[in-house]
Amino acid sequence: MQFIVSFILFCLRRLMGLWYLIRGPEIIGSAYISANGKPFRVPTPSNDHVLITSNDHIRELIDAPHQNLSLHAVAKEILQPKYTMHGFEWQDQRGVEGTGFVRALRSRLTAHLPAILPDLQRIVNSAIADELSVPSADGFIHVRLFAMIKRTVTNVNCFTFFGEELSQNAEFTTAALEFPQTVVLAAEVLRITPNFLRGYVASLVTGGHSAAKTIFRYLEPIVQQRLALRVIDGGSSQTHAPVDCMQWLIDTSPRKTPWSTPRMVGEIMAVWFGSVHQLAMTTTYAIEDLCLHMEYIEPLRSEIHQYSANSCGRNVEKMPLLDSFIKESIRCTNSDAITVRRKALTPFVFRDGLQVDRDDWVCIPQRGMMYDPSRYSDPAGFDGFRFARANKILREGYVPVEVPDRVPSILTDVSADWPIWGLGNTACPGRFYASTILKLILVCILDEWDCRLLAPNAPRSRTWRSSIVPRESTVILFHRRNNC
Ligand code: HEM
Ligand SMILES: *[C@@H]1O[C@H](CO)[C@@H](O)[C@H](O)[C@H]1NC(C)=O
Repeated sequence: MQFIVSFILFCLRRLMGLWYLIRGPEIIGSAYISANGKPFRVPTPSNDHVLITSNDHIRELIDAPHQNLSLHAVAKEILQPKYTMHGFEWQDQRGVEGTGFVRALRSRLTAHLPAILPDLQRIVNSAIADELSVPSADGFIHVRLFAMIKRTVTNVNCFTFFGEELSQNAEFTTAALEFPQTVVLAAEVLRITPNFLRGYVASLVTGGHSAAKTIFRYLEPIVQQRLALRVIDGGSSQTHAPVDCMQWLIDTSPRKTPWSTPRMVGEIMAVWFGSVHQLAMTTTYAIEDLCLHMEYIEPLRSEIHQYSANSCGRNVEKMPLLDSFIKESIRCTNSDAITVRRKALTPFVFRDGLQVDRDDWVCIPQRGMMYDPSRYSDPAGFDGFRFARANKILREGYVPVEVPDRVPSILTDVSADWPIWGLGNTACPGRFYASTILKLILVCILDEWDCRLLAPNAPRSRTWRSSIVPRESTVILFHRRNNC
């Protein structure tokens, strides 16, 4: 009897979870307000999410061993790489074979940013010029913004990851954009597919893994050649080694038992996987916010002008108003209601007794936090320069609510108050690069284009689970500025 009751309760909870699929951010948002700073649970179709916000809980989450709370296991659950990534087997635990990709992105890519900045700027500018080349009869160029930004980010990321030649190859860049999108779609379908059909369904949804196969076909010979070169000279004297992420991922891969070419290509594709979508969403929202809050355009333009005296590659990272504007755009229009997801591989008990069952997720409800009046004054209002102003007040010796840590608050911060990049040693290793690309795209648009939304009052996003994705249908009207 007791068994039947608990089974029925379990089913009810999972059914309630279905609601989460279409109303996730709202459910989390109102639960955040009712919880009043305490942890809370939200049911989803597959498990419960335990949402935490206190600094103590967050500290414990960061310090928890990966064997207990794992980001990697979350990625596996979301993406089902076994089926969706063309037979490529992920390790069960992160770091089993070293975390070369963190060194490749966090250290090498970040260190190379100043050197490749002029190239990144050139690629961004020419990608945008190509997108905005055909005016309509009314003199404006009508563009579906999200698709345009996805292509632009794909182009520049292809340059950074794979070099100039592949970034100019339309077949390759199309596959590079399509691959993560079909994987995410296929993984979503697989979650409701019975086990024995999964291989078949994955192949059906990804069109026989065609995007993955195209990328593989292009990368295999290049990676094979580069791996062979590494064996010959040990990698130390490669003065003419190519300057791209693919090379750094090869350089930082295991030496004692080197990976095979297919394994290496698989690892490169896995890192590529996360590089486009979030960056494209964040950039799209930032451009829409520029159109919705025109009063920021002139101050941002004059800041760009001020920092452009030296013309060989503008240092976009030096612009405090731009940094603040983008940060506020993320605060207001976050593309995800939760961050720092960790799956419990074992039952996990926080020091104060908060229990997490095996297979549940622990997460931080970042969107709720960003709209919390105890963290931000007038949280519902868009205040593009709130962070720049707070930093200025801080320099004058006061401590405003926006910068509780008493260090200037910037876009690439990683802290419990700004968890958009994740936290701890899994915090996004691509964040400095992402910040630079975001800023290059915004500077290009501010500098050369006037823009406005075709339908400023139309809804801008759709939600699915916890994510808030820009609508494909949002159209921006661009008009080239006269003064350049
Ligand atoms: C606005 C753009 C981006 C946002 C908001 C973002 C956010 C995140 C977040 C929240 C995580 C999870 C961290 C955690 O839970 O502790 C993450 C991980 C990661 N990101 Fe990003 N990211 C962005 C762009 C990029 C780009 C452009 C790259 C590559 C160049 C990248 C590469 C990665 C990788 C490889 C990881 C996995 C880290 C690990 O497992 O240790 N991201 N990112
Ligand atoms: C982490 O997992 C280990 C091994 O299963 C377990 O003994 C330990 O209690 C877990 N830690 C916490 C804090 O729950």
